[in-house]
Amino acid sequence: MINLTQNDRQTQLIITTNPQSLQGNISIPGDKSISHRALMLGAIASGKTIIEGLLLGEDPRSTAKCFEAMGAKVSSLNSERVVVTGVGEGLLQEPMDILDAGNSGTTMRLMLGLLASQPDKFFSVTGDGSLRTRPMSRVIKPLQEMGALIYGRNRHQNAPLAVVGQNLKPIHYHSPMASAQVKSCILLAGLMTEGKTTVTEPALSRDHSERMLQAFGANLEIDPETNSVTIEGKAKLQGQKVIVPGDISSAAFWLVAGAITPDSELTITNVGINPTRTGILEALQMMNADITIISEREAAGEPVADLKVKTSNLTGCTIEGAIIPRLIDEIPILAVAACFAEGITTIKDAAELRVKESDRLAVMATELGKMEAKITEFADGMEIIGGSPLKGIETDSYTDHRIAMSLAIAALNAQGETKIDRAEAISISYPTFTDTLKNISKF
Ligand code: S3P
Repeated sequence: MINLTQNDRQTQLIITTNPQSLQGNISIPGDKSISHRALMLGAIASGKTIIEGLLLGEDPRSTAKCFEAMGAKVSSLNSERVVVTGVGEGLLQEPMDILDAGNSGTTMRLMLGLLASQPDKFFSVTGDGSLRTRPMSRVIKPLQEMGALIYGRNRHQNAPLAVVGQNLKPIHYHSPMASAQVKSCILLAGLMTEGKTTVTEPALSRDHSERMLQAFGANLEIDPETNSVTIEGKAKLQGQKVIVPGDISSAAFWLVAGAITPDSELTITNVGINPTRTGILEALQMMNADITIISEREAAGEPVADLKVKTSNLTGCTIEGAIIPRLIDEIPILAVAACFAEGITTIKDAAELRVKESDRLAVMATELGKMEAKITEFADGMEIIGGSPLKGIETDSYTDHRIAMSLAIAALNAQGETKIDRAEAISISYPTFTDTLKNISKF
């Protein structure tokens, strides 16, 4: 049995008995990264942008609200067709109130690039308790090199932030981290800045911004040898039709659930398989998961496929190095897979997880540890000795959507009842997760 109990402050997800198998076809919500970018580029472009398949989670809603407050018009949000009427030429209006990015790091960091480059306009930006503790210096520092004026808490590192827009100057930024949020922030600032702005990153992070900026008419040079992208400003964007593929980060929960639950077979349809995001498929295949990629195709500049997963005898593996940015959001669910794999799984080079919506290394080690997983946390990763059963117990999401869903998948195969506190966090990226979980679970 799978139940949600709610009081006025929080939702608890309770998984009482294990399903005998998981079966069915799953249609997952739209990609979160692409949804944010479609709303943002639509908001600054000239004309109308039509978005099909937008993620209806809380995070894209935060982006839509922020840009509506700056003059863009966004039709009511639905997954069929959203129309964004842009302000044109990137010229956002000065908002009358504080912009609230909610829980969304992507909203805040990408938006800062656009705000910093709006001459003579003032913006204040905040977010929820989690976002206000997350580091913004990684985007503020390069923006300051471009001449941005940004002030904030903690010596200008944390929100609430105040931005006084400027005419920026182009730079070549050598980013110390493979972060698509950092790369995209600088490219968006470069969009509004005369001259060529370049970002070089140590390993390739997701490239949705590059793809979409080009589709909207920006002039980009991409050098895959050096992981560099150059944008030529000032660019005028024209509204486009965007078809948002399903989010592979959401599909990941079902890939692991199907692999670790007995007698299971799941087909997840219309999943984005952009190569900068498919680290999870490679990691699970390294772990011996039975995953088949079916009918590969392209939709509006992004590769898409259906994914079939069957119950598998997983084995441990080592996940480290350049694959990490390609599966950064999937590490919590990979930790769950590792608990059900024979042998040792080691995850390294993932210190970045400590500054996500929660400290995902500490939280997964604590919560899976409570379920009696053999898990050791390191500064930049964790080691899991798999193959011994997990015990159901009361756990907590720490208000982190991916933690809540990872624990739910662990609970499906744990002995006894598991409760997940503060499960309302799931609506950040996957509001229909629990319905799907109920639909595919066969008791
Ligand atoms: C995202 C980039 C990643 C990812 C986040 C979404 C994006 O963050 O973890 O969920 O849409 O650009 P970093 O750029 O900080 O690695």
